[in-house]
Amino acid sequence: MPYDVAIVGLGRVGLPLALSFADRGLRVLGIDNDTERLDTVRAGRMPFRETGTQEVLDRVIGGDGLGFSDRVVDAAQAESIVITLGTPSFSHIEIDMRDIRSALDDLLPVLRAGHALVLRSTIAPGTTDFVAGYLAKHRGFAVGTEVYVAHAPERIAAGRFLEEIVSLPCIVGGVGEESGEVVGRLFEVFGAPIVQTTPVQAELAKIWTNILRYTNFALPNLLMIDCEQYSANVFEVIDLINRDYPRGGIANPGLTAGSCLRKDFAFSEERSNSPGMLLAVSRVNESVPLFLVQGVKRRIGPLTGRKVAVLGLAFKAETDDERDSLSHKLVRLLERELADVAIHDPHVQTPSASLEEAVGNADVVIVATNHPEFCGSEALAEIVDVASPDCLLVDPWNSWGSAQVFAYAAEVPALTGRA
Ligand SMILES: NC(=O)c1ccc[n+]([C@@H]2O[C@H](COP(=O)([O-])OP(=O)(O)OC[C@H]3O[C@@H](n4cnc5c(N)ncnc54)[C@H](O)[C@@H]3O)[C@@H](O)[C@H]2O)c1
Repeated sequence: MPYDVAIVGLGRVGLPLALSFADRGLRVLGIDNDTERLDTVRAGRMPFRETGTQEVLDRVIGGDGLGFSDRVVDAAQAESIVITLGTPSFSHIEIDMRDIRSALDDLLPVLRAGHALVLRSTIAPGTTDFVAGYLAKHRGFAVGTEVYVAHAPERIAAGRFLEEIVSLPCIVGGVGEESGEVVGRLFEVFGAPIVQTTPVQAELAKIWTNILRYTNFALPNLLMIDCEQYSANVFEVIDLINRDYPRGGIANPGLTAGSCLRKDFAFSEERSNSPGMLLAVSRVNESVPLFLVQGVKRRIGPLTGRKVAVLGLAFKAETDDERDSLSHKLVRLLERELADVAIHDPHVQTPSASLEEAVGNADVVIVATNHPEFCGSEALAEIVDVASPDCLLVDPWNSWGSAQVFAYAAEVPALTGRA
């Protein structure tokens, strides 16, 4: 076969994976139906930022080891087919498998004995067995001996792909022992430990990895909202919880979102034994933008015509990924208050104002994303120098180190120790 592996979906997961396989000498076919994206990659440019991947692309582009196609059927030219398509959730609290179903339907007529089909996307428990059943039902394949199907979930954090693909244990949940072995051999090329398990355990392990993070962040977020009710300082309470206490470890609050955290809990919630528990976690995280807007209004009154600077549009620090970012929700809520919103984010593709333009004469400055540029007392001093003298500073992350979610600029010297 002309290719060792086909990667279907060259997004933030699929493209770094395709490049990493090619960089290790495998013949790779990258497939995406977004032809603009394919043109960008063919021209040797990464369509998004992922640390170190531009250098890998520079190394592998133009060689014999990396081909591209916009047709899913071409994946049959490879021994292994890795699906890295998006898996959003419906508002019905249910996985949206339309992209995966569509790719499966394209592949059905061209799959042959010996093919390995790997689901790298995040999927609801039971999906790998569904896919195996789909192949058996529609093509009569004996999955596990004739064709191989496995879930090998992507657990790498955005921005750390190249560092973590070689170190994070690679979970492989094969349908039948042989599927696990075949897919394990494919991923062995990265040198990280391969951990074999069942498909459903691999699915549960991936989504509960994200549920753990989502829930961990909901706790300080709820504490922040409760502290406002009691006029308590959340950062002082967190310090009291964690300081020299062996069973502490609560995180700081912030805007907790992103396309993975916001939807993966729904894959568990769709058939949960404790319906609503994780929805409550989601409700807490989703309510943080409104909590900030209401906190600002409580302090300075109606926002009509007041200038509010929002710092950061990305869903987390040091990424250009804005998908499902709560910053956008914050901006929408502020606009509904008729505020004059100015935005600054040096990382994302959405055009935004310079820091000086955004913050100049602002009545309110909100750190929505804790990018390194917005952290530390120097960054705070720069803002205070140009913002309105009675500006309200809002920093749920404590990125300035002032340990106040809401503080007036006049209080800043005392807060930062700057005279
Ligand atoms: N982004 C992350 O950091 C991350 C981390 C771990 C797991 N995941 C999971 O990995 C999966 C992929 O996530 P992502 O962020 O890379 O998604 P993405 O949206 O960035 O990438 C999906 C790609 O598939 C392409 N595509 C869509 N339909 C197609 C079709 N029918 N044929 C060919 N190409 C098609 C799109 O053009 C896009 O380039 C999801 O299940 C996600 O939950 C993502």
